[in-house]
Amino acid sequence: MRRKQPSAVAGDPCNSVFLVGFMGAGKSSVGRALGERLNWVFEDLDNRIEAREGRTVAEIFRDSGESEFRRAERAALEAVLLELRGGGARIVALGGGAFVQKDIAALLKEFGAPTIFLDAPVEELWQRCSTQAAESGAERPLLRNREHFRKLYGTRRRSYAKALLRIQTGGRPLETIAAEIAAKLKLKEIALRTEEGEVE
Ligand code: S3P
Repeated sequence: MRRKQPSAVAGDPCNSVFLVGFMGAGKSSVGRALGERLNWVFEDLDNRIEAREGRTVAEIFRDSGESEFRRAERAALEAVLLELRGGGARIVALGGGAFVQKDIAALLKEFGAPTIFLDAPVEELWQRCSTQAAESGAERPLLRNREHFRKLYGTRRRSYAKALLRIQTGGRPLETIAAEIAAKLKLKEIALRTEEGEVE
């Protein structure tokens, strides 16, 4: 079988990118598109939290509260950073509140990998999240009502703006956004090798 394998990559912070921004900004969809474009691994930090804790984000919020979720979020990020120090290339999408936490922002700053703030008009963010909730039942504990959503976005925006780059996602195809990030950061595609060692 000619299974494709990423070729070896040096492990340094330039081989990882962290996507930040509010709920509905497209962190996971853009991250996945960017990962496919570059043959980099894509990871959603919320998924890692759920795997480590053995329960969903919604269950953590409901049963243990937001502060316990933030503790788990930080611990999950520390685990990711530890792995990245060992090598590999990865796109990581953070949950909407992560980069707002001072300790998490400090960890990322110290690590030195680029952070990208994905942004869109707040009304579009709201529409995307409420549509996702209606269509797929996606449960977001902090998605309450339009008024609360707007307010929370307003209080967090200044923190997101501390990211290295800000990219607009409103009304733009995922591929265009991924191409813009790859070009701005000069990210390199990883050559895939077949088991016979041919580069494709
Ligand atoms: C949160 C956003 C969620 C998730 C958690 C908290 C937030 O992630 O981490 O519900 O504080 O904004 P998404 O931004 O992927 O929805």
